Amino acid sequence: MDLQTQLRQVSQTTLPQIQQTNDLKQLNQIRVSVLGKKGSITAILRGMRDLDPQERPQVGSLANKVRDEITAAIEHQRMVIEQQAMNAALAAEKIDVTLPARPLKRGVPHVINQILDDLEDLFIGMGYQVVDGYEVEDERHNFEMLNIPKNHPARDMQDTFYVKDDILLRTHMSPDEARELEAHDFSKGPLKMISPGRVYRRDTDDATHSHQFFQMEGQVIDKNITMADLKGTLEYAIHHIFGTDRQIRFRPSYFPFTEPSVEVDISCFNCDGKGCPVCKYSGWIEVLGAGMTHPNVLQAAGVDTDVYGGFAFGLGIDRFAMLKYGITDIRDFYLNDVRFLHQFKGGII
Ligand code: DAH
Repeated sequence: MDLQTQLRQVSQTTLPQIQQTNDLKQLNQIRVSVLGKKGSITAILRGMRDLDPQERPQVGSLANKVRDEITAAIEHQRMVIEQQAMNAALAAEKIDVTLPARPLKRGVPHVINQILDDLEDLFIGMGYQVVDGYEVEDERHNFEMLNIPKNHPARDMQDTFYVKDDILLRTHMSPDEARELEAHDFSKGPLKMISPGRVYRRDTDDATHSHQFFQMEGQVIDKNITMADLKGTLEYAIHHIFGTDRQIRFRPSYFPFTEPSVEVDISCFNCDGKGCPVCKYSGWIEVLGAGMTHPNVLQAAGVDTDVYGGFAFGLGIDRFAMLKYGITDIRDFYLNDVRFLHQFKGGII
């Protein structure tokens, strides 16, 4: 049989075989057996050596044609087989759109952060800037500049963790007052700041004490600031957090960094001031400390007390959250139990 006939035969037998194949492996076997190194077309081409030189081009071009046809048929069949497999998979994997969706577990900001964010928004709205101080603070800013010299009894109530003799974990947010007073350029306008953050005390942890908790300090220093400004500001903030039904009471108190100093109470939300266990039968609940910034504090930061004065306040965020939501144990804030934390979805739906 001459080579051209052999080539035509290969073509005639292989093409139907390819079309009948439903399997990629089998398709590959066909490819190897025809086009591979030991395949039938390769063998036929080897026979060209023995041909007349005139015959070779004809046989060569037929061989190319047959090879191209078979290659194209294999490629086509491969696509057919793959498409069939895809269709079969799609049919088998039908999605039941009526099944209920898996619930998406969405986190919520920590309740402490919710109160912080809320207060920040409120004070930013009144033109305050939010400042950020240092959790590891020096004694000078934490105590001395706030009119709490060494051996002052107020230091006893704020014993803390010392990193070095004069470097400590801040016991309150008031050091940021001193820092801002030192840094502020009063020719550019008043100083109105809040400073929220983590503070530390050497406390034994129980339901109402934690060695670490959150405070927010606020301070306004300008010309002609009076206690009426302090009162109006705090009333506005307290009504925002606890509701406008709350009565507010200013009670004389003592803080080294303010004079006069006050403690601020709200009428008990549980009994509306009649007296109950929540307010220890007094009708009032203490929510924060405040006062008119002591001249010693201003002078320690180089501020001219003949021209400038103002007020400051400090509030406990944990305490605010406990009062607002009736939480009875401060340690719940720090245990990271999602069953507790997820109760405070706040404004988030
Ligand atoms: N620094 C005080 C504390 O931690 C809170 C405080 C009270 C801050 C009165 C003030 C203030 O600015 O005027 O107990």
